[in-house]
Amino acid sequence: MNLKTQYMGIDLPHPLIAGASPLTDSVDNAKQLEDAGIAMICMPSLFEEQILRDQMQTHFAYEEPAESFAEALTYMPAPEDFRTGPEEYLQKIADIKDAVNVPVAASLNGYSPGGWLRFAKLIEEAGADALELNVYDLPTDPTISGQEIEQRTIKMVEQVCDKVDIPVTVKLSPFYASPAHLAQQLVGAGAEGLVIFNRFYQADIDTEELQAIPYAMLSTSSDLLLRLRWLAILSGQINASLAVTGGVHTSLDVVKSIMCGAHVTQLVSCLLQCGPSHVTNLLKEVTLWLEEHEYESLHQMQGSMNLQRCPDPSAYERANYMQVLQSWTMD
Ligand SMILES: Cc1cc2nc3c(=O)[nH]c(=O)nc-3n(C[C@H](O)[C@H](O)[C@H](O)COP(=O)(O)O)c2cc1C
Repeated sequence: MNLKTQYMGIDLPHPLIAGASPLTDSVDNAKQLEDAGIAMICMPSLFEEQILRDQMQTHFAYEEPAESFAEALTYMPAPEDFRTGPEEYLQKIADIKDAVNVPVAASLNGYSPGGWLRFAKLIEEAGADALELNVYDLPTDPTISGQEIEQRTIKMVEQVCDKVDIPVTVKLSPFYASPAHLAQQLVGAGAEGLVIFNRFYQADIDTEELQAIPYAMLSTSSDLLLRLRWLAILSGQINASLAVTGGVHTSLDVVKSIMCGAHVTQLVSCLLQCGPSHVTNLLKEVTLWLEEHEYESLHQMQGSMNLQRCPDPSAYERANYMQVLQSWTMD
């Protein structure tokens, strides 16, 4: 079965790629993923805060005692809390690239335009085949409008795309007033791919200690439904590759994502739960499913369930919404 796909102009033998997580953080794990058949590897992120902290430390080492900027860093994790420092991160890209033959994307994670984005070029020079820009931002200031936040994000993407020749993909959140409009602006700013969507980790409250407890919960297939909707809306309208992240666990999750318009499916929770061998099983199952349903290639299925042929997707979505609410019966 021909499972070939393309992601941001990169030819891949199939659409199963490893998303950013601790599983893509070492040479050993990358090799295991490659042995299991993964098509591409996305490394975990290097954070804006990490880069800024590093820069500030270098600066203040010459200028003033380190304590003088302690307040500005109140909520920043200490360097030892990060898995790798900026320089080590660049080295890790080079090491992973040396060790595997599959394409490797690195990831920058931040929310503001600025000097820290010079790391995009260093990431390219370290050998990454692509750059994922995770624009995770939870605005809490009531004086900042959605438009300002979107402009900030677009500017970041422009700055990064100006700096590098490798393709850039943007990992988005679903919480924009008009995700389709923003998606189009980001593509206009130079993004060749979009990753649909960041998962937001919800903090719980410890009622005894009066503390918020953030923790990373793994996803389930139900997380995929929001992504399927937006893949179907964006696919066919947006001139960029689409990756899905969030809730891809089974072969049917892969099939649905491709039908809705994904070019690749990022796997994280399922690999953390089942290990790299899950890739091999998924590949077999997706192949079998396509054969049983008489597809000639994955490409034939790609985007077949998107809303491109729907004359008014917005009215269609609203009609479905009303129908769902009206169809509830009290027994
Ligand atoms: C432990 C853990 C670490 C992660 N680290 C990163 C990261 O560094 N950068 C990033 O963009 N996403 C990170 N993610 C998010 C994943 O790449 C992915 O988008 C999310 O887990 C949803 O996919 P899934 O449902 O397959 O888990 C992380 C997720 C987990 C569970």
